[in-house]
Amino acid sequence: MKFISVLEAIKKGTGSIALHGWVYRERGSNKFKFILLRDATGIVQCVLAREKFKKQWEEIDKIQIETSLEIFGIIKKDKRAPTGYEVQVSKINIIGLSNEFPIQKDLNEELLGDRRHLWIRSQKMTAILKIRSTVTGALHEYFRNKGFYEFQSPIIIPGGAEEGPTMFEINYFGKKMYLAQTWQLYAESAMYALEKIYCIAPSFRAEKSKTSRHLTEYWHTEMEVAWANLDELMNYAEEMTKYVVKKVLGRNKKELEILGRDIKKLEPTLKKKFPRLTYDEVLKILSTKKKMKVKWGKDLRTIEEEKFMDSYDTPVFVTHYPKEIMAFYKPRDPKNPKTARCFDMLGPESNGELIGGSERDTNIDELKKSLKAKGEKLEDYSYYFDIHNYGAIPHGGYGLGTERLIKWICGLDTIKDTIAFPRTMTRMKP
Ligand code: 4AD
Ligand code: MG
Repeated sequence: MKFISVLEAIKKGTGSIALHGWVYRERGSNKFKFILLRDATGIVQCVLAREKFKKQWEEIDKIQIETSLEIFGIIKKDKRAPTGYEVQVSKINIIGLSNEFPIQKDLNEELLGDRRHLWIRSQKMTAILKIRSTVTGALHEYFRNKGFYEFQSPIIIPGGAEEGPTMFEINYFGKKMYLAQTWQLYAESAMYALEKIYCIAPSFRAEKSKTSRHLTEYWHTEMEVAWANLDELMNYAEEMTKYVVKKVLGRNKKELEILGRDIKKLEPTLKKKFPRLTYDEVLKILSTKKKMKVKWGKDLRTIEEEKFMDSYDTPVFVTHYPKEIMAFYKPRDPKNPKTARCFDMLGPESNGELIGGSERDTNIDELKKSLKAKGEKLEDYSYYFDIHNYGAIPHGGYGLGTERLIKWICGLDTIKDTIAFPRTMTRMKP
């Protein structure tokens, strides 16, 4: 008999079936053994009557949480069973016995982290990983549907990119090399060939931030577009975000329910246009409505972003940050030269910066001036300057923190739960 999934069995709803999976919960009495069997698709209750398994009962008694099984029997509707169906078992094969499962209720975050290789089997983590798969799939779909090419850049780089101190140094055959924080500078080279490109790849940040939204290794969704200006870039960011949220709401209702996510909080994102405000306007709102004074020229702190975002139920674009505090490649706005033609997309519900993007400066003298002001070595960037010597054009792009988007969509307290094996300053294992 062909094995089917738990979901397929429940859809079938009646008749003979064969299932394989793991024990999610089990309990027994003198006469019966109740097993909740789980596979990747769901959970179903299976019942074994002792009198049918007299010879095998001793073996059946050894079944514990996570023991793997093959089960043959008849499925039928049963209101009392946890997922509405029950399998009357006629034959059972124990495939792999299980030690006592070391995850019980009330384990703290640290201990769950140590047992992550087992914890990812939990209903919560399984639901998140399914949503994560929808999110990355939808991102690929979105860009491909829009005519973007997928383009990959090196992860091991000789230096450069943005903000040197947050790069991980590696020993590369005795030479100092670094792990990439962004694909951007390579992407700009490739943009001159392919015009519309994107990538989903790991980025690395040696930030000593122990916050709920920082990982040291995260999956960066980046895009770069020829001939695009700031408004067009924000249009892409908004459309992409809506596309992903819509896909998750369409495919993962069950998983969002397992996570206890209030999906009403995601609906405004599909219906409303995301507001677009300048940094100056945000400062004004903070001082008049939120009683928070931010000195012009300072970056917005988490607390200020959150207070500002309190008034919104969709992501919001903040544009035109002060040029001096921005990465060197973000160009001055000719109309307001103290500011840069850039944006951050902030997430609602205290999720902070989801996306950072900008037009790109192609003026080599300006680029060199900005880099010098930041104390960077110009030789690291010689190839980057050179690309703009051959038919420079207006262009731009952005980077999305894929895990930050997943954190918001799932309504999670920490970014660590958006990824199977998180890397942070203090979490390296397993
Ligand atoms: O704002 P960032 O630093 O921008 C760049 O790297 C640009 N080169 C992107 C581009 O234009 N191609 O990073 C982009 C996004 C942030 O908005 C944030 O969501 C995410 O990456 N991010 C992190 N996510 C998790 N953990 C961290 N430590 C992150 N640092 C940035
Ligand atoms: Mg940023």
